[in-house]
Amino acid sequence: MRRLTFFLSGEHSTVPPSEVVGAIEAEGCECRAIDELDQVLVVESDIKPREIFDRLGMTHWIGENFGICDIDDLIEVIGNSDLLDFLPHSRKISVRVKRVRKYFPNIDTQKLTKEVADEILDTYDYEVDLEHPDREISIILTEDKSVISIIQNRVDREAIEERRPPERPALHPSTMQPNLARAMVNLARTPRNGKFLDPFCGIGGILIEAGLIGSEPIGADINKNMLDGARKNLEDAGIRNYELREGDARELEFEKADAIATDPPYGRQASTGGSELIDIYKEVLPVLSETLKMDRYLCITAPSDINLEETAEGCPLDLEEKHQERVHKSLARNIYVFRRSRD
Ligand SMILES: C[S@@+](CC[C@H](N)C(=O)[O-])C[C@H]1O[C@@H](n2cnc3c(N)ncnc32)[C@H](O)[C@@H]1O
Repeated sequence: MRRLTFFLSGEHSTVPPSEVVGAIEAEGCECRAIDELDQVLVVESDIKPREIFDRLGMTHWIGENFGICDIDDLIEVIGNSDLLDFLPHSRKISVRVKRVRKYFPNIDTQKLTKEVADEILDTYDYEVDLEHPDREISIILTEDKSVISIIQNRVDREAIEERRPPERPALHPSTMQPNLARAMVNLARTPRNGKFLDPFCGIGGILIEAGLIGSEPIGADINKNMLDGARKNLEDAGIRNYELREGDARELEFEKADAIATDPPYGRQASTGGSELIDIYKEVLPVLSETLKMDRYLCITAPSDINLEETAEGCPLDLEEKHQERVHKSLARNIYVFRRSRD
């Protein structure tokens, strides 16, 4: 087991750390949270950073963790840690101190950076190179702690930006942003090479993210135009092994799925095909729980005035997580993660 730091994007307070845990579990690895701080998650896990950095939507980077300590003890903790042994000899290093939001307003981060670099240079004769370092040492200041790490893998945040809706061939106002769609795919513990289902797929925002991590995306929608859009978007993203079906998610028969993540219609823009929203949830949850393989996960959104925990009663689903999200001024919704727990 190794200790890993995940420097989180801070776009949401609870989804990014849960996404990390979901992604690690989706890779079949163990994960124990050691500390959760603002924009930082430290875990003990048998996962290697290079095995998951490409599947995270709300993380900046993953690093090897060498301690979490009070800022007054920082230099001493670095001196006593394995960090120095981890650095190969005669290489170029960089040291950066990152203050999260407005924590530690009185700390001079430049001065602290120099103190950390001096402590390291005292022991080994490294060259400091901020542009092309072989090893990047990061000190994150968050809440009342400093977190010491060597960065291992950076998430390609630009690639996520490039997948934003306006960049896709088919557009619709109901479509989801790629970082949240990716997080939902991870919350659903979608295995690479597994069968993934989105039964309210719209123009494919979630299907694209599931396809890009290597799963086989299957989408359904009641509206044929949406499916035409999904096809264009999936092709444009280079995804070929997908399947799209036209129909009402409550009536379709789906193949057993390894993961389901979905975003049913919720307001004026996304059509419900004339049905009451609550009826859609009541009628679709039994279908989805039946479709899900045992011990696999369903990640589903619902407007905050629908209590999905109550709606799911009677289905073989256990609620694992619930996250709150504000979509816009007049719409708040929850993101639920259920596990199929019994027959
Ligand atoms: C919020 S949108 C999904 C957006 C999608 N996640 C994306 O990122 O593009 C909801 C979709 O559900 C579809 N829909 C509404 N009622 C349905 C039903 N009973 N069965 C299947 N699809 C339905 C709508 O046509 C709409 O495309």
